[in-house]
Amino acid sequence: MNILLTGGTGYIGSHTAVVLSQAGHEVVLLDNFCNSSPSVLERLEKILGKALPCIEADVRETDVVEKVLREYKIDAVIHFAGLKAVSESVANPVLYYANNVQGSISLLQAMQEVDVKTLVFSSSATVYGEPQYLPYDEDHPTKPMNPYGQSKLQVEEILRDLAASDSKWRITSLRYFNPVGAHESGLIGEEPNGIPNNLMPYVVKVASGELPHLNIFGDDYETLDGTGERDYIHVMDLAEGHMAALHFQNVNAGSNVVNLGTGKSSGVLEIVKAFENITGKVIPLQFAPRRAGDLPIYFAQTGLAKEQLHWVAKRNLIEMCESSWKFQELQGHVKGESEN
Ligand code: NAD
Ligand code: UFG
Repeated sequence: MNILLTGGTGYIGSHTAVVLSQAGHEVVLLDNFCNSSPSVLERLEKILGKALPCIEADVRETDVVEKVLREYKIDAVIHFAGLKAVSESVANPVLYYANNVQGSISLLQAMQEVDVKTLVFSSSATVYGEPQYLPYDEDHPTKPMNPYGQSKLQVEEILRDLAASDSKWRITSLRYFNPVGAHESGLIGEEPNGIPNNLMPYVVKVASGELPHLNIFGDDYETLDGTGERDYIHVMDLAEGHMAALHFQNVNAGSNVVNLGTGKSSGVLEIVKAFENITGKVIPLQFAPRRAGDLPIYFAQTGLAKEQLHWVAKRNLIEMCESSWKFQELQGHVKGESEN
């Protein structure tokens, strides 16, 4: 298949590009590089032994997207392009709706024009909001707690209406839990700009000496060790989940929503311990107040992904920590290395 990855040079997009290309698909990337670097392309070339075509454009440039769909005879699109920082979405909701919702509408307009009607959409577990029960299954009520989550839910709803309007559409919204880790080569991984918001990239920067200590946001939750628990999923498992969704769509029309998680949750201290064991580094800790908007615990019901997509997450916490650290080391960010 010829597959277009919007946001394809980003964290999840680049790993999915590797999985799809190595499985024999023709992969085309489109990105405006607002949260990624063109250097990802060289690193993808090293992993794959060939260059992937990449178009520098914003998904809101409908005519450019349309041209790309025609020129590369695209069969399916995976729509990763979007902004994802929760706190930024609270501070600047218009930015988030413009990028995430307007961007998706622009892509759908281009796809409709060219008659490309197979789509996988990057949604998020954040659409569920406060758990009414756990694990979250796909029928759990949705009530996002911030504009970012709201933007994802709005796109899911547009996609549902679209599939209902035309039986040729094949759409899967994948609700990711907490993606972490990196490709085994250590060449690609998560590269947040500035000080990371998310746990794993923060821990990595503390281990490398770039940040002095980890703040643990809350130690009095009703969880096993009092810290927040999440369903961390290896980014390569997540990448493989996209290929499984495309395979499912080849034989099933209509729209679908599927969780991609492991079904298990880990606390902050468990992550820290696993990371310390693997790297031999000590992660200095400070307990801090709960972070506004954080939920105590959530994790995925994974039955639907297994049943429909024939996909399950295979990689464990150790592989998540090892690959994150390898990526960090290879980027040459480890403090002291450059001075030796
Ligand atoms: P990322 O920021 O690394 O990748 C997104 C990519 O999209 C970046 O390369 C960015 O430059 C590009 N982009 C953003 N807006 C664009 C636009 N208007 N036009 C073209 N390119 C644009 O993020 P990621 O972690 O790879 O996430 C990919 C998708 O998955 C996002 O939609 C995100 O909301 C969703 N998601 C991520 C997580 C997570 O924790 N990483 C969890 C749930 C859902
Ligand atoms: N945490 C800390 N210290 C930090 C960072 C995080 O203690 O420096 C804790 C948080 O309080 C939470 C856990 O680590 O308990 C995980 O936090 P992350 O920021 O890594 O992840 P979140 O679950 O808050 O959110 C992430 C993405 C969202 C996405 C969601 C999907 O940021 O965009 O996962 O489940 F929607």
